[in-house]
Amino acid sequence: MRSVFIDIEGIDGSGGTTQARLLARWFESRGWPEVVLTCEPTDGPVGRFIRRALDPEDPAAVLGDAVFPYLFAADRRDHLDRLVLPALERGCAVVTDRYTHSSLAYQSLSVGLAEVAALNARFPSPDLAIHLVLDPEECLRRIQARGRGLDRFEALDRLRRVQEAYDAVVVHARASGERVVRVDARGPVEAVHARVVAAVEDLLRERG
Ligand code: TYD
Repeated sequence: MRSVFIDIEGIDGSGGTTQARLLARWFESRGWPEVVLTCEPTDGPVGRFIRRALDPEDPAAVLGDAVFPYLFAADRRDHLDRLVLPALERGCAVVTDRYTHSSLAYQSLSVGLAEVAALNARFPSPDLAIHLVLDPEECLRRIQARGRGLDRFEALDRLRRVQEAYDAVVVHARASGERVVRVDARGPVEAVHARVVAAVEDLLRERG
């Protein structure tokens, strides 16, 4: 069977981790011989370092914003070489919770889209990037329901800026020939899952 590589994207609280998990299960239920569910930042050495560097309490948090595009790109290189590319060669369905579009959205806020795009240009595109679109207010409600203490105004302002950056990423990615589908992420998890599956089925049908 031919491999398939799907990237799930969206601002924090939009439900990407849940939808990636459900999509991986859907591939399994469809009898795909091997399914790989993965995420970025990864649990590899660079990814673990990134999580520390993002934690304001950690000594690694002294790094400036301009360093992060390189860290995420290094983690991505490791992710591809160690896991994603071998899996695609074996014919797997690979579902990743975040990939290049996260860098293009989040890191463009500090260094600009052109620089992040240049840094990510050599990485293979997914067959399909699904962008979950949800109002930042609703995302913040979901984040707070998970018990994360956040300053409301700061957090909302940031979510809004990341959403705008994602809008620009969709335009940029489509202009580069990538397949990007925006999915309405409102409503029950199962309803969103059905929309995600519809986008994947369109891809699989077109590929034949
Ligand atoms: P996330 O998967 O949302 O982590 P968690 O499971 O802890 O919620 O990723 C952590 C943060 O990293 C998230 O805010 C998005 C950010 N990020 C970037 O800024 N650039 C990237 O390239 C990636 C992959 C993630």
